[in-house]
This record gives sequence, structure tokens and C-alpha cells, in this order.
Amino acid sequence: MTTGGPGAGAGSLRAPVSELNLILLGPPGAGKGTQAERITEDFDLPYISTGDILREAVKSGTELGRQAKEYMDRGELVPDDVIIGVILEKVESPEAADGFILDGFPRTVAQAEALDQAFAKLGRELTAAILLDVPDEEVVRRLSGRRISPAGRVYHVDFNPPKVPGRCDVDGSELIQRDDDKPEVIRKRLEVYHSSTAPLIGYYEDKGILRRFDGTMAPTEVHDHIRATIATLKLEDEL
Ligand code: AP5
Repeated sequence: MTTGGPGAGAGSLRAPVSELNLILLGPPGAGKGTQAERITEDFDLPYISTGDILREAVKSGTELGRQAKEYMDRGELVPDDVIIGVILEKVESPEAADGFILDGFPRTVAQAEALDQAFAKLGRELTAAILLDVPDEEVVRRLSGRRISPAGRVYHVDFNPPKVPGRCDVDGSELIQRDDDKPEVIRKRLEVYHSSTAPLIGYYEDKGILRRFDGTMAPTEVHDHIRATIATLKLEDEL
């Protein structure tokens, strides 16, 4: 793990890029999970998804799952004091010591500040906040057609269909629709995004690490742009 020092980006808060500490920002359905799958493979990074962690906790009936379920079902955020400790533990774990891709955290300014404080103690910094820009009406179209495999692979009935309808391309498992992809919950999630999470765009812009992408392009095109940007960040660091 690189821990700062020369090359840490003098005059900027950008991290030394040999350690890729990436966060994904964007509204529900922007394609964060879709892109994370691909970037994780490109750069061999551990993937930490708060949504997946919470859904798994609900499924296994843990205390975290019990606390989170009612908020998730309503499309609201799980309280900061429930989620922050869980995610910081993942980010600070040995598996994430050389970098990670974080999807779904931070989602409030309080969460972002908690991450900054934890990182400051470790002498680490975020490399980039990758924002996927997608308008609300596109979010609604995407989420109503989304299907996922039990292992978390993401499909869309029209935009990213599996080879065999209703079956995962990788393991053949049956695809399901998420409980919070119902129209009234989608609307609530969008509302919560605009009020609680969108302020993070300015937060990371001020730190000089925001990277903005047009999330309305095809998944492959979005991926090409993100991969090129991350590769450039790495290259700049190596020069
Ligand atoms: P979470 O699971 O994080 O949900 P989300 O942020 O709402 O994001 P989604 O997973 O819905 O969408 P995505 O951007 O990953 O899009 P995807 O790639 O699937 O959180 C769920 C809940 O957990 C929250 O509501 C909250 O209650 C709780 N929670 C989580 N984190 C929390 C936190 N930090 N604090 C408090 N509470 C928290 O794509 C969507 C669809 O579009 C797919 O069908 C896909 O195939 C398709 N698609 C993707 N890209 C494209 C494209 N470019 N063109 C066309 N279609 C595309």
C-alpha cells in the first residue's frame, strides 16, 4: 500500500494512484453496479457495494439486516450510525489496503466526512469520485426493467438482456426483480438522492477529485470512458 508522501499530488487532494481508492456516485439506476463489475475486472480491485452488503444482511436475518430492511423497503437511507461503522470496517480491512471501488457509500455529507476522517488517520486519500450523470426519467425506465442474479449480476430486459431470458449468463441462475424497484419506491429513492446524496457532487468537486461521466450512453461506451480516465490517472502518477 502507498501511504502518501512525494507523488501524492502536491497541491491536490488526489491520492497516489498506485493505490486506486475509487468511489462511484450517481442516482439509483445510473449504472454504478454495471460499471463497477467492469472496472473491478480491469483494475483488479475489491468491490464494496453497500446495497449488496445490506441486501445480504436482510437475507441472512442479521441485526444489521433487521435494522436496515424497513428503510430500504421505503426507499429511504439507512441511518448514518448504522451504516458508517460497517463500511469503514470494509475499507480499512487488509483486502482493501491496496485500493477498492466503493459503490453506494458515501451517500450523505456525514458519511463522506467519516470516510475522510478514517482515511486521514491511515494516511490515505481518495483517488477519484466517479459520477454517472443520468436524468430522472431514464432512471425510472432502467429500474423498472432491471433484473439481477442471486450473485448480484445486473441485467436489463431491453438494454442489457441476458442471452437466455430470465437466466444469468454466467451461472444460469434465475433472475429476480429487486423489491425496491417498484415505481413508488423508485420515486422515493430519487427524491432521497437529490436531497441527501447530490450535495456530494459539490463536496468532491471542491476537493478536485470529481470525474463526471455521461451515464446515458451505452454501458460499453460509459465503461470505455471511465477506464480511459482511470488509466490516465495511473499513467500521470507513474510519470
Ligand atoms: P443500492 O443498492 O446502492 O441502490 P442505488 O444506489 O439506488 O443504486 P442501484 O443499485 O439501484 O443502481 P445502480 O446505479 O447500481 O444501477 P445498475 O448498474 O443496477 O442501495 C439500495 C438501498 O440500500 C438504498 O435505497 C438505501 O436504503 C440503502 N443504502 C445503500 N447504501 C447506503 C448508504 N451509504 N447509506 C444509507 N443507506 C444506504 O443499473 C440499473 C439498470 O440499468 C440495470 O438494469 C442495468 O442493466 C441498466 N443499465 C446500466 N447502465 C446502463 C446504460 N448505460 N444504458 C442502459 N441501461 C443501463
